[in-house]
Amino acid sequence: MHKDVESILYSEEQIKARVAELGKELSRDYAGKKPLLVGTLKGSFVFLADLVRAMDIDCEVDFIAASSYGNGTETTGTVKIKKDLATDIAGRDVIIVEDIIDSGVTLYHLTNLLRERGPASLKIVSLLNKPSGRRAQIDADYFGFEVPPAFIVGYGLDYAELYRNLPYIGILKPSVYEKA
Ligand code: IMP
Ligand code: MG
Repeated sequence: MHKDVESILYSEEQIKARVAELGKELSRDYAGKKPLLVGTLKGSFVFLADLVRAMDIDCEVDFIAASSYGNGTETTGTVKIKKDLATDIAGRDVIIVEDIIDSGVTLYHLTNLLRERGPASLKIVSLLNKPSGRRAQIDADYFGFEVPPAFIVGYGLDYAELYRNLPYIGILKPSVYEKA
């Protein structure tokens, strides 16, 4: 285990099994369609890479970067689009792929923005759900695991751009961000 990680919440094996289930569920629910999976950068890139390989229907992938976080652990409540989609989503079945829904502020703004572009459908799949942090009224249509009110890293999730490469999902030691 990384020295900055306090405890492991979900192991590599547990993640693999859950992502396989989500992939099956999406393949079933979108059978006969060709959904566009929209990964939110950067946190969702690991999850998205595994999720598409767990799906056995045709699908497309694109990315969007929105941010409400700086290098801290608290959301600022403002959202900026830093990189937009390359795909026209009008009439498409869009699935937003998120790493974690905490306050929900980012996703709340992002879904409103994407809805204005006229997709046929718009759903959210989030690897993690942190219900204790919620400030905006939004929930995932599909999610992998629930996490406690702590700062989570690994499997794509960062603190100050580090720890994305950890193959497990863990709680970051508070001493790491308290001294920052
Ligand atoms: P929200 O707007 O508070 O729901 O979260 C926006 C983004 O902040 C998420 O997509 C994550 O990239 C990041 N984030 C929120 N909570 C955590 C956490 O516990 N660990 C790492 N990143 C987080
Ligand atoms: Mg992040």
